Amino acid sequence: MRRFFRIKSHEQILADAEQGEHKLHRALGVWHLTLLGIGGVIGAGIFVLTGHAAAQCAGPAIALSFVLSGMACVFAGLCYAEFASMIPTSGSAYTYSYATLGELFAWIIGWDLILEYLFGASTVAVGWSGYLTSFLKDCGVVLPEALCNAPVAYHAGQGMSLTGALVNLPAVFIVALVTALLIIGIKMSANFNNVIVVVKVTVILLFIAFGIFYVTADNWHPFIPPNTTGNFGEFGWTGILRGAGVVFFAYIGFDAVSTAAQEAKNPQRDLPKGIMWSLVICGILYVIVALVMTGLAHYSKLNVPHPMAVAIDAAGAGLAWLRPLVKLGAIAGLSSVILVLMLGQTRIFYSMSKDRLLPAVFSAVHPTFRTPHIATLVTGTVALVLAGLFPIDLLGELVSIGALLAFTMVCAGVMVMRLTKPDAPRPFRTPWVPLVPILGMALSVLQMISLPHDTWIRLVVWMFIGFIVYFTYSYRHAHPPPSA
Ligand code: ALA
Repeated sequence: MRRFFRIKSHEQILADAEQGEHKLHRALGVWHLTLLGIGGVIGAGIFVLTGHAAAQCAGPAIALSFVLSGMACVFAGLCYAEFASMIPTSGSAYTYSYATLGELFAWIIGWDLILEYLFGASTVAVGWSGYLTSFLKDCGVVLPEALCNAPVAYHAGQGMSLTGALVNLPAVFIVALVTALLIIGIKMSANFNNVIVVVKVTVILLFIAFGIFYVTADNWHPFIPPNTTGNFGEFGWTGILRGAGVVFFAYIGFDAVSTAAQEAKNPQRDLPKGIMWSLVICGILYVIVALVMTGLAHYSKLNVPHPMAVAIDAAGAGLAWLRPLVKLGAIAGLSSVILVLMLGQTRIFYSMSKDRLLPAVFSAVHPTFRTPHIATLVTGTVALVLAGLFPIDLLGELVSIGALLAFTMVCAGVMVMRLTKPDAPRPFRTPWVPLVPILGMALSVLQMISLPHDTWIRLVVWMFIGFIVYFTYSYRHAHPPPSA
């Protein structure tokens, strides 16, 4: 049993990070890190899932779901910030768990993070496909329905069915393109990311600034549509809760700031600020966008892959000029999220492989491109299959439950570390411990509970597969860390 709980000392983690042929260039300051966070955060959540969640769960009160979910992220973000300042390495929650809760929990989180990063990239690719096909249609190019939709549909509580479509080809295309870019080593430089962030934030600000004049206040009544079916999560207060669980996806990615630890000029000081600033800026934008969107179009019309465009259409001719801009902003913006998430996944695989929880090929580096090409290829291939076959809501809920579990463990980890290493230097200290981590855990668990039953079953199945891999491979190969 002790074996499961042995930890990797945080001195050892820091020493490992400093080793290696390629020490990364430390070039990023607070604003670069904040922009990196925003680059990884703003994507399919706000551009796509807001519509589904408003139409199916919360109505205009989806704005409150964003507040609730944002609070959970701020509490978890404060815990990430403490770890990121103490253990500034690229393994993120996986490494934090190894340092506090031990090998088995590190495995659980590493396996769970695949849901957040790899499945997350597939989800965003499906959103990208929705915006691309709609943009092409506006330009007169109509792609066959059978080639740009998921062959599988998902209805909460009723399971899956076939749609008659063959494959979501645009989603497959974007994942393949990003995989190729990652393998040949075209890094998303800080400057490239900054340009994309400026484009997407500008589009969002334009949507708010001009959309607000076309809002029909009637669309906000009732602000919290009553739950008429008696089913949990279908409007009313439980709908707000389930909506929070769904739109939580929109906040995922701020933790990617912590994976840039080895590229930050002053990680101890700047990572916490980068994490918190990107969260606060995105949270404020999300709440306002949700209000404007549900004010422009009745929430029942928003259950589409491009709800922002539908909201603009509802405003009439006056806002028509914004339609192509929103679509282009989404297409550009979503591609950077896919890139950041897939990059994050390869870094986690890399860290797990270095600790021998995964085979050595996952940390193999291509002789010419100097990138973890096999980890990238595996990530890309699986993400591509998922993106080609499954619909966005099914994938998105699985990603959310995976990330919420990781956040819960990070919050727990902060409390454990305070007890086991009370005197370790903490350049950033989470305030009001244990209150903040407990609230972070409670809100995360609450959102997990609010997600559909099917999502839980899939999480359990995923974790079960993870345990099989752990006991048949990782347990036997992981080398004892020096602190064991
Ligand atoms: N937060 C990211 C998005 O919404 C994953 O696309």
